Amino acid sequence: MASSGPPFDSNCMTLTRFVLAEQRKVPSATGDLTQLLNSIQTAVKAVSSAVRKAGIANMYGIAGSTNVQGEEVKKLDVMSNELFINMLTSSFTTCLLVSEENETVIEVEIGKQGKYIVCFDPLDGSSNIDCLISIGSIFGIYKKLEPSNVAPTAKDALQAGKNLVAAGYALYGSATMMVLSIGHGVNGFMYDPAIGEFILTDQNMRIPTRGKIYSINEAHEGKWEPAIRDYVHSKKYPATGEPYNARYVGSMVADVHRTLKYGGIFMYPATTASPKGKLRLLYEGIPMAYIVTQAGGAATNGQIDILDIEPSTIHQRSPIFLGSKDDVADILICIRNRAN
Ligand code: AHG
Ligand code: MN
Ligand code: MN
Repeated sequence: MASSGPPFDSNCMTLTRFVLAEQRKVPSATGDLTQLLNSIQTAVKAVSSAVRKAGIANMYGIAGSTNVQGEEVKKLDVMSNELFINMLTSSFTTCLLVSEENETVIEVEIGKQGKYIVCFDPLDGSSNIDCLISIGSIFGIYKKLEPSNVAPTAKDALQAGKNLVAAGYALYGSATMMVLSIGHGVNGFMYDPAIGEFILTDQNMRIPTRGKIYSINEAHEGKWEPAIRDYVHSKKYPATGEPYNARYVGSMVADVHRTLKYGGIFMYPATTASPKGKLRLLYEGIPMAYIVTQAGGAATNGQIDILDIEPSTIHQRSPIFLGSKDDVADILICIRNRAN
């Protein structure tokens, strides 16, 4: 009998299945990366559920920081951090973690150590939590450089982005999505809560060569360098054609995801108040630069590619300009013109 409705896909490409297939292409692969990404998936699913206020009874903080039972309610960023740390350390695949929420590196206990180092921002866009605007998580995965018998140190996490094994982000938007690159392009996986799996929906994502959107916190214009002012002005008052549109969510994951899908540019420049910008290299700038570059776009600090920067401290900041190739080229012209 013919069934109504869309056909049921009994052979869908889940994120785990996708990563497994990719690992199979490398004869020496151990499956550790699949296991590591599974632990990230679990953390992301739990964060997503909390973002959607599922299990609301456990979260009632409504009037303050304690729930009706008088217990302290964990803030979403603290909870997300604990989830990432617990899932990653128990995956037997990591030796060192760098989290935005922890001042120092987290060394995984010896019996549970593996070869990977993960840098992550467990909850990005925290100022948007309480008003229900999109937020996300970001991660970058490196291999430890020293042999396994040498204890990992913070130095192992200070690798340039071009060394990344994989990077990605989860966006808790109107749907939850994970976007991932393991060095062969970028793929997007939408979360299907009915089966609890991420399904490949955005295969081989490519960023348009040019977009029509610029994204920057424009309230800081008074503290920008003249080159940034020149650039934004040129997009507002073009010599020919229509001006660009402005979009700024204030959650890097959401702003970068839009830039990846629609094209354009996302900028967090240096300001006179923060000469190194605001965003952090290890778990914001570098993973996002990796994704955008893998999708055919570009990412720079205004001087060099973000992926070429050798970080010197784990919470180092950097100005960042990323997005469509031609749009990034335009801002570099403005920067060079002012430098001459
Ligand atoms: P986080 O919530 O992890 O601290 O990061 C917030 C970041 C980033 O998501 C966003 O792009 C930027 O802060 C927004 O900063 P402004 O409010 O200065 O525009
Ligand atoms: Mn962040
Ligand atoms: Mn954060």
